[in-house]
Amino acid sequence: MKAIKCKVISNEQIEKNIYKMVFRSDYISTEARPGQFAHIKLCQHSGLLLRRPISIASVDLNRQSFTIYIQIKGQGTEILCSSVKGDYMDMIGPCGSYFNVSEDIKDIILIGGGIGIAPLLLAAQHFKDRNITSLLGYRDGGQVFSVYEFEKFSKQVLISTDDASVGYGGKITDVLIDILRSGKYDCVLGCGPYPMLKTVKDICQQNDILCQVSLEQNMGCGIGACMGCACKIKTDGGYTYKRVCKDGPVFYADEVIFDE
Ligand SMILES: Cc1cc2nc3c(=O)[nH]c(=O)nc-3n(C[C@H](O)[C@H](O)[C@H](O)COP(=O)(O)OP(=O)(O)OC[C@H]3O[C@@H](n4cnc5c(N)ncnc54)[C@H](O)[C@@H]3O)c2cc1C
Ligand code: FES
Repeated sequence: MKAIKCKVISNEQIEKNIYKMVFRSDYISTEARPGQFAHIKLCQHSGLLLRRPISIASVDLNRQSFTIYIQIKGQGTEILCSSVKGDYMDMIGPCGSYFNVSEDIKDIILIGGGIGIAPLLLAAQHFKDRNITSLLGYRDGGQVFSVYEFEKFSKQVLISTDDASVGYGGKITDVLIDILRSGKYDCVLGCGPYPMLKTVKDICQQNDILCQVSLEQNMGCGIGACMGCACKIKTDGGYTYKRVCKDGPVFYADEVIFDE
């Protein structure tokens, strides 16, 4: 992890409020592991001091570049999305822990919801030599992104939308229940909203299957110094707090306490 300035190669709006940005960086494209993020500084005139964490979604070693997807939530992400080709952005990365899957694990399910799909694309790319099944859940047809990229690296891709406009109508976790019933899989890697991740954890426990999840949390320093990103993690005697930015964002689902 180090602080670098990365040049914007392209920035395009791909859905209603989702942008795809490509940056030049030999360092991040070589070093990034699936689940890791870049902590990006906002332009100094914005008056917003805190960086914003954004997952590294894919890398291109030949072009020495990497891609991120940003969904506009508020002022910070809006400022990031207003960058144009040729701008330089100040970032720290690649940050945090990553999806760590041993060699003997062959059949992997990736399950993502909304913008949480982004880090799973790098997982699909990284583990492309295994059997990847990608389950992608979107709110509606106007939010569907990146399916074609997942298809390049996956054995199968299944999509759901809450409004049934594309793919299965309903929750992507229902699709997870179905495919775990019909096939043999070694592990599940998930990222998305907390209620979805909690359901993924429960389903994996019921099916006795290994599961890692990547958590999203607002961040302050992003480097482990402020505890601004604490999450609850199980211990033998009860629980402790860990930092999503440094100890995470990827944890074993069994360890995470998803508060009601
Ligand atoms: C590991 C990780 C990876 C992520 N990957 C992606 C990704 O790939 N793509 C993507 O679109 N999003 C991603 N996110 C979410 C993204 O970081 C947030 O949507 C973004 O920070 C929101 O900022 P905003 O200023 O646009 O939103 P705002 O609406 O301004 O912020 C939402 C709320 O949170 C507060 N807030 C915002 N940032 C902070 C902060 N740093 N500290 C304290 N409070 C804060 C605001 O005050 C506001 O109340 C990721 C988050 C994490 C933790
Ligand atoms: S954001 Fe400061 S410790 Fe995680």
